Amino acid sequence: MLKTTFFGKGLKNPLVLASGILGTGSDILNRVGKYAGLVTTKSIGPVERLGNKNPCVLEVAGGIINCVGLPSPGYLHLEEEIHGINTPWIASIYGHSVGDFVKIAKHVSGFNPDFIELNMSCPNTSDGMAFATNKDASIELVKEVKKTTKIRVIAKLTPNVTNIVEIAKSVESAGADAITAINSVGPGMIINADVKKPVLSFKTGGLTGPMIKPIALRCVYQIYENVKIPIIGTGGILTGTDAVEMMMAGASLVGIGSATYKEGVNAFARIAKELESWMKANGYKEVKELVGIAH
Ligand SMILES: Cc1cc2nc3c(=O)[nH]c(=O)nc-3n(C[C@H](O)[C@H](O)[C@H](O)COP(=O)(O)O)c2cc1C
Repeated sequence: MLKTTFFGKGLKNPLVLASGILGTGSDILNRVGKYAGLVTTKSIGPVERLGNKNPCVLEVAGGIINCVGLPSPGYLHLEEEIHGINTPWIASIYGHSVGDFVKIAKHVSGFNPDFIELNMSCPNTSDGMAFATNKDASIELVKEVKKTTKIRVIAKLTPNVTNIVEIAKSVESAGADAITAINSVGPGMIINADVKKPVLSFKTGGLTGPMIKPIALRCVYQIYENVKIPIIGTGGILTGTDAVEMMMAGASLVGIGSATYKEGVNAFARIAKELESWMKANGYKEVKELVGIAH
């Protein structure tokens, strides 16, 4: 009942491990792959990078705030990380320039990921990398990466823009095969009254988890109405019903990140079970029937 396809790739269910929460190592990705249709690596960058100091991931009311800041082994070490991967996977990549993305996309294509996801914006780094907040930069990035690889390319968008539809249309026109929406919201800040200072080492951090679900649903809903390419709806999914709502908004697949923070890999088995129960109780036979029905 949960089986689906994405660009002809058979998936056991529509659930996708979102980038960055459980790392890049094939051991953990294979473990998640027992329960998720697709798994995404943590974004891989141009050079080895430590990321920000602790504290950089904290629970807040309604979710998580993080400023991990894209720690990465660097793309030249990808082989050690991904060696032995035996589950459908998405290689997430980031760069500081179009040239970085092109170089990394070329390299990761050699490992034959099922998809390449462009992390076009990370709010938690001082060097910005905000391709997805600019229409022309998004177009150039997607066009150049598409020229470099035969692997299908997914553009991951940030909600931190005035008009996400404009960016979604831009990446579609540039040849993106699919869109992941959304990355973290913010940045936000937490201050400790006793210490009288911001708590996170980077001072600000991206917000994720249930508090961002309404924003993610709105973004996916709007994108679905304006582009034809499929969407991986991500943001605040904790339950099977959340996944149903995300597909109703227009997502073909559903990304899950913060739900694994407390529950680990088990989140996928639980959410899949809940999704199946909901479908049975409501008379649906295939997940594709749910896509976009809230419109
Ligand atoms: C600790 C942490 C690290 C993340 N790292 C990445 C990353 O490397 N690349 C990326 O594209 N998104 C990254 N994200 C964003 C997630 O992939 C996802 O878009 C976001 O968390 C919203 O989904 P959620 O509410 O289910 O967590 C990260 C999120 C968290 C909480």
